[in-house]
Amino acid sequence: VKVTYVAADGTRTEVDAPPGSNVMQTALDNDVDGIVGECGGAMMCATCHCYVDEDWSDATGARRDGEDDMLDCAADEVRPNSRLSCQIRLTEGLDGLVVHLPEEQV
Ligand code: FES
Repeated sequence: VKVTYVAADGTRTEVDAPPGSNVMQTALDNDVDGIVGECGGAMMCATCHCYVDEDWSDATGARRDGEDDMLDCAADEVRPNSRLSCQIRLTEGLDGLVVHLPEEQV
């Protein structure tokens, strides 16, 4: 499953992830700057905040229960396409996914 991370400065990093992984873990595994993932994906931090590219908002679906509350703690601006990247599971249907990273995570 290919995922492209677009940093706040526009730098694009494309990586290959095993299906079943999530967008936060994939960033960490590939040393992508801009995702911290402090809580390890337990929805307890908001340092994995990302903005789903508008072309992918339907495919990634709505926020999961609890994401809204945690996003209130995000360091950067929360937008309609804000997600906790640890809650986006990479299925084959998300091959080619593009996410944008906020300037700040903490
Ligand atoms: Fe902590 Fe996603 S890694 S909420």
